[in-house]
Order: sequence, then C-alpha cells, then structure tokens
Amino acid sequence: MPRVMPIFGTRPEAIKMAPIIAALQATADFECVVTVTGQHREMLDQVNELFGIVPDHDLNILKTGQSLSGIMTRTMDGLEKLFAESKPDAVIVQGDTTTSTAGAIAAFYHGIPVVHVEAGLRSGDLFSPFPEEANRKITSQIASLHLAPTQTSKANLLAEGIPASDIVVTGNSVIDALLSTVDKHLPFSDPRLEELASNGSRILLVTTHRRENQGDSMRGVGRALARIADAEEDLVIVLPAHKNPVVREAVLPSLHGKANVIICEPLAYGEFTRLLSMAHIVLTDSGGVQEEAPSLGKPVLVMRDNTERPEALEAGTVTLIGTDEDRIVKEVDRLLNQQDAYDSMANAVNPYGDGKAAERTIGALRHMLHLGERSADFVTGPGRTL
Ligand code: UD1
Ligand code: UDP
Repeated sequence: MPRVMPIFGTRPEAIKMAPIIAALQATADFECVVTVTGQHREMLDQVNELFGIVPDHDLNILKTGQSLSGIMTRTMDGLEKLFAESKPDAVIVQGDTTTSTAGAIAAFYHGIPVVHVEAGLRSGDLFSPFPEEANRKITSQIASLHLAPTQTSKANLLAEGIPASDIVVTGNSVIDALLSTVDKHLPFSDPRLEELASNGSRILLVTTHRRENQGDSMRGVGRALARIADAEEDLVIVLPAHKNPVVREAVLPSLHGKANVIICEPLAYGEFTRLLSMAHIVLTDSGGVQEEAPSLGKPVLVMRDNTERPEALEAGTVTLIGTDEDRIVKEVDRLLNQQDAYDSMANAVNPYGDGKAAERTIGALRHMLHLGERSADFVTGPGRTL
C-alpha cells in the first residue's frame, strides 16, 4: 500500500490539510503518515486537536523570533532523517509557507514525488506577500502533481509551462473545513464573545500578521482601529491576536483601555468560524480569511496592495485597501454608514470551493499513483447565505 506523507507546520496549513487527512484515513488505498514541523506550536496544536489529528512525527522546530532560514534548515534537517526511516511514496505539502517549500525541496532531493495543494496562486510581485510568492513559485518548479483551487490558479500554472496533465482543479480544502465546522456553533471559551453572540452587536472582525506589514504599517493599523473604536461606539472590534510578539507590540498599544475593543488569544477554528459568521465586516491581511468570509457573505477589506486570490475581488465581496491609516478608517466608515456600499459587497459567493476539494484530492492522488481514474475538475458554483 503506498505510503503518503502530509507535511505541514502552521495554522492555515493544518486547517486546509485536515479534510485531506480525514479523507486519506477514510480510504484503505493509502497508509497516511502525518508529519508536522511545528513551525507554529500553540496555533498548530489548536487545529490538530479540533480535527482529531495526532501527528506520527513532530519536528518541533519553533523558536521565538525564528528566521526564514532557520525554519528552512531545521525542517530540511528533520525531514532528511525522517525520509531515510519512513520512505514515503509521495509527500503532500500545502500552500506557501516556509514549512511547505522546505518540505517540497527535501522530498525532491530524495526523489519523492511532491503533491502541492493550493498550487498556482500568484500575486505577480515576488516581494509581496513575502516570502510566500517566492515559496509557492519554487514549489511549482519541483512538484509532480499540482492541485489548483480554481481555474485562475490553473491558468497561472499553464502560463509558467506546467503541463495540463499534471494539474487538477480541486477547489480549496479550506471550504471543506469551513463547511464542516461553521454550522456546529461551538461555544466560545471567552465569555466576552458569548456575550456578543447573545446581544447581537455589530462586529468588526480583524486579523493581521503579514510579514511585509510588520513595523510602521502595523502600528498604523493599530491607530486606525483606535480611531474607528472612538468614532463608532456601538461597534465592537474583535481582534484575535496572532501569537507573533512583533505583531502584538505593533498593534495592541493603541487599543489599550478601549471599551468596545476585544483583544483575545488566537481562537480555535470552530470559534473563529462562528465569529466570522457573526461579523458585520472583516478587516484582514490573511489569505485564508479572504477565502472563507466571501462564502458567508461577509464584506472583506484586505489590508494589502495586491492579492493572489483575485476571484472574490472580481465577485465584489473583497476590496484591497492597503495599510494606510486614513484609508482604513475611511473604508470601514463607508461600509458602516453607506448601506448601498455595504449591500454591494455582502453577497455570498463560493469561488474557492464547494466542500469537495478533499475528495478530488484523493482522486488525483489515486490517479498519480496508478490506483484509479483522474477526478473531474471543480467548477465554481453559487455561494450560500447562512
Ligand atoms: C507563518 C507563514 C505565513 C502564514 C502564517 C500563518 C512563513 C514564512 N510564514 O507566518 O505564510 O501566513 O504563518 O499564520 O512560513 N509564534 C508562537 N506560537 C505559534 C505561532 C507563532 O509563539 O503558535 C510566534 C513565534 O515567536 C514565531 C513568530 O510567532 O517566531 C512568527 O511565526 P512564523 O511561523 O515564523 O511566522 P508567521 O508570521 O506566523
Ligand atoms: N483562524 C483561526 N483562529 C483565529 C484566526 C484565524 O482559526 O483566531 C483561521 C482562519 O479561519 C483561517 C486561518 O486561520 O482559516 C488563516 O490563518 P492565518 O491568517 O494565520 O494565515 P494565512 O491564511 O494568512 O496564511
């Protein structure tokens, strides 16, 4: 039986890999050996716990303030030893983190085929997002099977010379994870959030962490949030703070003592998706949140100058607003106070998936390993309103 090794290390990879691992474990065709690098620790373990994933191997590489080279070298060292023992027939990596690219390179060096989940996203700017755009381009050069979430990402791969026979459009497994979680209405562990659920306040949900936004831009985000909180007393701003101390030091000081700002620890995925379904507006620089919020019909203001996820932009549920302090204040004000502007963005669309990406991934893997037919490609369908 072929041995397949999913390798992942951060929160978003775990969320997007979880439905694939469940599908792998549900079939008798493969032996699934789960390997985590531990690039994230608390934020990774939180996801694994929710989805019942127990890693077979944990490289435990996290260091506070870790450098990109440190993540890369510790991952490659750890995997070299593991591949010598475990000898997988294929590895699966997801997305564009440094764990993902290090996993792909280590496997390639050992002659192990690489399956790349969420392949073909491109912003067109090698330095933004940094280092993710470079990471995913590197992985595309060495992967054997490219699982593109959308037709746009497939077109990007074809334009770079990747053969069509090596690309399957699966949809994004983040939608599988979202749809399997959001309706459960899991309880909040923070009583302030449970209170919000019962009093029906208007919520501005904020997440930020991007490396290229750290420093002055992120301090500006903190100041913008403080100005919005002062101007809109009935609005509640909820900021689940990323574990990175660099992020916290930049954003949080402006927000101390504001009665209508809730700062909390990273939320377990079930709690976060529930909060997303309660939110009025989402303000974020996250990749995954840009994919999830449109499915729930939530307007998303993206604090970046470009995106590798143009589909929701084209559908009108996402606007790119950059990180300028005045612009953030202005755009949030517009959505809060101009109903037409709000309504034009609050459409449920599902350009990223239909909840069956894991199933198509297993089909594509079976085909690659000569165990079955190639699965049909995902075609974008309508969204749904909760
Ligand atoms: C990483 C990914 C980024 C992804 C993001 C998701 C890279 C280069 N970056 O960025 O693509 O969008 O994850 O969140 O792969 N920390 C903890 N505990 C945790 C997680 C982080 O203490 O559970 C702290 C550590 O001090 C660490 C810092 O956060 O040094 C930054 O973590 P790191 O994985 O290097 O970068 P992210 O910004 O999280
Ligand atoms: N998320 C979560 N808890 C939080 C904030 C985000 O579970 O407190 C989820 C979110 O639903 C999305 C993913 O984390 O699926 C996004 O992760 P992040 O923004 O860290 O990384 P990115 O997607 O930008 O790589």
